[in-house]
Amino acid sequence: MDMKEMATLETLDETIHPALNLGKRVGGYLYVHRSACDALDETAKAALSLAEQLAGKVDWNVAKLSLEGGSISLLDYALFFDSAFPELTRSYRIDLTDETVRVLDYSEGSNRPVLHRKELLLSPEHPRYAEYAQLTAALERAGLLQNSHAVGYHRQWQERLSTGGYCVIGHTLEVVDPDAVREQAEVQRHRTALRRYSFSRPMQALARHGYLDGRRVVFDYGCGRGDDLRLLELNGVPSSGWDPHFRPGAEKVMAPIVNLGFVINVIEQPEERVRVLADAFAHAQELLVVAVMLQGTSAAEHAAFGDGVLTSRGTFQKYL
Ligand SMILES: C[S@@+](CC[C@H](N)C(=O)[O-])C[C@H]1O[C@@H](n2cnc3c(N)ncnc32)[C@H](O)[C@@H]1O
Repeated sequence: MDMKEMATLETLDETIHPALNLGKRVGGYLYVHRSACDALDETAKAALSLAEQLAGKVDWNVAKLSLEGGSISLLDYALFFDSAFPELTRSYRIDLTDETVRVLDYSEGSNRPVLHRKELLLSPEHPRYAEYAQLTAALERAGLLQNSHAVGYHRQWQERLSTGGYCVIGHTLEVVDPDAVREQAEVQRHRTALRRYSFSRPMQALARHGYLDGRRVVFDYGCGRGDDLRLLELNGVPSSGWDPHFRPGAEKVMAPIVNLGFVINVIEQPEERVRVLADAFAHAQELLVVAVMLQGTSAAEHAAFGDGVLTSRGTFQKYL
């Protein structure tokens, strides 16, 4: 062993102190994609270079470093960049103390370990980082990454996706079975109702056009928490409202003005949207005001659901 190698080996007992935003930590290990290994600290780089020497000429794309030092595994994941959940084909575990190499070959296996959250292995500057991170965020919102240790293998992972009613195309999470998703996620329509401290936009429009002068009764169809009703009362406008969650016992009444404010965009069933619209229209004697959300947070950040999206709060939104 020459002096250069001696110097490298002396550093091996040292623990590794990676930058906080580098790699994915699981247990006492740090996983880093080969393209991001330049950002490792000098101790880790020396250990990695020794591990490579000991392993010989092998294919690998992910380094798994023990944070305590002492061992490194060089992992070869198939189709790291193209597969949403790359599968492990081979692992070379190098014990840097006794300089032994143990090879685990999964290439012929039918149920290989899979990688989730792969963006964490890359530098945040990597051109595909955002694309991968978006998929991870969608999986998290759908609750699919809970107890991810239980879905560390291809078959279990695919089973979780399909029983949840999802599939992944490219790096996009798609709903294939809305009933399964609804059953598990249960769309929380009422959670769309915000606290209001001033009139909603449709009420403001009515006021602007002179309809809130107190001569016409307003019926608020899907009134949510009833803040518009409270403000109408404060302004001396006769009104009432109904909401299936907040005021299920209230009466649906005929009124000169009916407001259907931000209701149909939270309904995930297109046929129900039509029914609600028709029913609101049937209660309006003079004027029906319909308001919907035109856009919200980028739809790409949410899981596709029916003809809309499922948000992180378990609500449905049909953005136009
Ligand atoms: C975004 S909130 C809007 C509440 C209120 N109109 C406002 O502007 O503050 C949507 C409301 O629609 C209600 N909703 C859900 N399904 C409905 C239905 N089939 N008919 C009427 N209202 C419904 C929800 O309970 C929720 O309170």
